[in-house]
Amino acid sequence: MSVLSGKKILLGISAGIAAYKTAHLVRLFIKAGARVQVVMTPASKDFITPLTLSTLSKNPVHSGFYDHDQENAQWNNHVELALWADLMLIAPATANTLSKMANGNCDNLLVATYLSAKCPVYFAPAMDLDMYKHPSTLASFNALHQFGNTMIPAESGELASGLSGEGRMAEPENIVAFLEADLESKLPLKGKKILVTAGPTYEAIDPVRFIGNHSTGKMGFDIAECAAKLGAEVTLISGPSHLTLKNQAVAIIRVVSAEEMYQAAHQYFPDADVAICAAAVADYRPSQVANQKIKKSEAQFTITLEKTKDILASLGEIKKQQYLIGFALETENEIENAKLKIKKKNLDLIVLNSLQDAGAGFGHPTNKVTLIDSEGRIENMELKSKEAVAADIINKIIGYYHA
Ligand code: CTP
Repeated sequence: MSVLSGKKILLGISAGIAAYKTAHLVRLFIKAGARVQVVMTPASKDFITPLTLSTLSKNPVHSGFYDHDQENAQWNNHVELALWADLMLIAPATANTLSKMANGNCDNLLVATYLSAKCPVYFAPAMDLDMYKHPSTLASFNALHQFGNTMIPAESGELASGLSGEGRMAEPENIVAFLEADLESKLPLKGKKILVTAGPTYEAIDPVRFIGNHSTGKMGFDIAECAAKLGAEVTLISGPSHLTLKNQAVAIIRVVSAEEMYQAAHQYFPDADVAICAAAVADYRPSQVANQKIKKSEAQFTITLEKTKDILASLGEIKKQQYLIGFALETENEIENAKLKIKKKNLDLIVLNSLQDAGAGFGHPTNKVTLIDSEGRIENMELKSKEAVAADIINKIIGYYHA
């Protein structure tokens, strides 16, 4: 999945011949799953029509502070546009627009919007080769660089003037690749390996029966998706679950029993930076598994159970640099018991589920948790979607690494 997926991109178009390529650029953004709004300088409309861009971006295109030709014309709020964006790209960025932005001019909607932008801003310059090298243009690049903006280098080749050299706007595919690489390198969990356990485990009684529980795996799957979206390399070890992952970058290992989950967790843990044990692992399993289906001949039937290995506790015993997170489901003395579990299992953070809250726990799309760290700091979270709970947990990890 592209890092641009779900991103709100504000595309600013200034008046260069390369503007005709922005139709393709908008298509590529939409294909990557981004949302796009377009702001044009008035002169750029001579190179590509707003209708083309509004059709492709599925949004109205803005070019003036208000729309002259509409009855009941509305003010195009440049502040609102700028604040809407997760990232702003000016492509093509002409020498004139670069200079205006470097100097804080705001005589058209695009440059005014730029001044209001708080998001990362990128420029894909496009101009003739001598303009590209002119000290005045270089001064604009420098100023914009100092403002924290990023240049997507122009490419070399045939120019509209008939000359050949550096100054062509980067090809749309290369602009998208540049943005993806740049955004990915800045993701807060880039370079971190995260192991997540999820779902129930099934403990066999005989070839057709098992002891299991109602866990769907949703909490662990959401954690895995959220961590991957923020740049982590994620391995998800899941017990039987019908869920599938949206993000193909997550490596999923499907297991059935607690023993299989234990083996898989120990295979990946030594290499991990973080482990989050969200699985509802069976605490007991039948001591003996019948080879054949058990017949219902007896009036009463007893199964002897033995303890499974506690995966989380076993990881706590061998942990070195890893940040280890466990879950707890308590029905009494919740905080005290959770704090004891932090010590007993050598955890850095525990996610306490309370069964006393309506809408929380197994089978619900929502959860209400309390986060407690190894120093006893307690955060009571609101009832929220499991995606949002996953984001809260992942934020704690980001806070740990970026403190
Ligand atoms: N866990 C595990 N392996 C097990 C049992 C639990 O990894 N065999 C993990 C779960 O993934 C979860 C935490 O331990 O992160 C849950 O612990 P919990 O079931 O609340 O408590 P227990 O440790 O089983 O203790 P008790 O039943 O006494 O409350």
